[in-house]
Amino acid sequence: ESAALWGGRFAGGPADALAALSKSTQFDWRLAPYDIAGSKAHAKVLHRAGLLTDEDLSAMLAGLDELLDDVLSGKFLPAEEDEDVHTALEHGLLVRLGAELGGRLRAGRSRNDQVATLFKGYLREHGRIIGRLLLEQVQVLAEQASRHLGVAMPGRTHLQHAQPVLLSHHLLAHAWPLIRDLDRLADWDARVAADSPYGSGALAGSSLGLDPVFVAQELGFTNSSANSIDGTSARDFVAEFAFVTAQIGVDLSRQAEEVILWATKEFGFVELDDAFSTGSSIMPQKKNPDIAELARGKAGRLIGNLSGLLATLKAQPLAYNRDLQEDKEPVFDSIDTLEVLLPAFTGMIRTLRFNSARLEELAPQGFSLATDIAEWLVRQKVPFRVAHELAGACVQECEKRNIELWDLTDADLAAISPELTPEVRSVLTVEGSLASRNTRGGTAEDRVTEQLAELRTRIADH
Ligand code: ARG
Repeated sequence: ESAALWGGRFAGGPADALAALSKSTQFDWRLAPYDIAGSKAHAKVLHRAGLLTDEDLSAMLAGLDELLDDVLSGKFLPAEEDEDVHTALEHGLLVRLGAELGGRLRAGRSRNDQVATLFKGYLREHGRIIGRLLLEQVQVLAEQASRHLGVAMPGRTHLQHAQPVLLSHHLLAHAWPLIRDLDRLADWDARVAADSPYGSGALAGSSLGLDPVFVAQELGFTNSSANSIDGTSARDFVAEFAFVTAQIGVDLSRQAEEVILWATKEFGFVELDDAFSTGSSIMPQKKNPDIAELARGKAGRLIGNLSGLLATLKAQPLAYNRDLQEDKEPVFDSIDTLEVLLPAFTGMIRTLRFNSARLEELAPQGFSLATDIAEWLVRQKVPFRVAHELAGACVQECEKRNIELWDLTDADLAAISPELTPEVRSVLTVEGSLASRNTRGGTAEDRVTEQLAELRTRIADH
């Protein structure tokens, strides 16, 4: 008897070369517990349809539980000739229950609805794990922001000094994208939950009167697929998951890039904790930001997994095609990548030490208060176009004489324009500049305190 599930109409077994190409147990075995959960639900629906007796059902469920134990303990593993996780588990069940009872389970289902359903189950579980790890990263950003409230730093655009901002405001700017990633995971999960493919069969549904909604609910879904062709062939749920993981990678990489810059001698904004940095095999003085660099590098890998997957899905005719077996490895890799990256990354940010004196010292440099002069003039009813010119003239004068804006004397200011009365000096401090940006979302300390509270509410919601 052939090891395959489809031997009936074939004269012999598959060529070795085909078997080698076709085999997926080396990567799909991790789906085994989800496959067994699906089998248990399927056994129950067969029983409800009168296709298994009460005794059949209890024996079947006991056999599946035993199989699950052996899978989890590593006692049961796929055999060399098993094509995929479904085939291997069926063999395991036949051994435990005998061919008569074991052979009844496959009625009314196909590996096509089976794999689509259990893949969803696996991704939902890992979506929750990644969500928890991500939430810790958001919490750590909130802690660092709360610890450094009041510390000013140079805010940048184009990497050039732009306007002073609070360090806490900057750190929280990295927290919000991650909150949106958490929202994306939650949206995705609700969409997937409403679409259990079990019952779709190979593509057309089942003639055995098996209730797909019952199976869906058994497996923690809220509803079954509305269309059996869609249920077995659509993989947008995988692509969307891969997108969210890629976006998380991109969001971590944006933080990583700043950690790398900030840890340089030139910036001198942060020091990495020994436990979360690495040394050099030749240069004794080195302390390297490897976690941040690996995060930046792995973002490329996560993006690649998404693009590869989309390329696989493009232009497949309905319904199931074997191309779809290529849907698993990219997203498994994305999951493994984030599950190992996030704890290290969170540790790095949690233990990052900020050089507050250095940040404060640089905050007003690079004429970052020039906008404050222009906006002060606007409050004196000067048109902004003129105000911008006059503040620019102040910068030009300072550059010429190699001084800072606050070094301009009353006479210097008056020489630039009579509108520039000595009162303008009141806005030429970092404290004044920060405090004046006091509408929702601004960098004034009160607003940042409110923002932190708002973020903590969002954290509590997740
Ligand atoms: N292992 C396959 C996959 O992951 C499922 C098997 C469906 N095979 C088939 N010939 N219909 O997509």
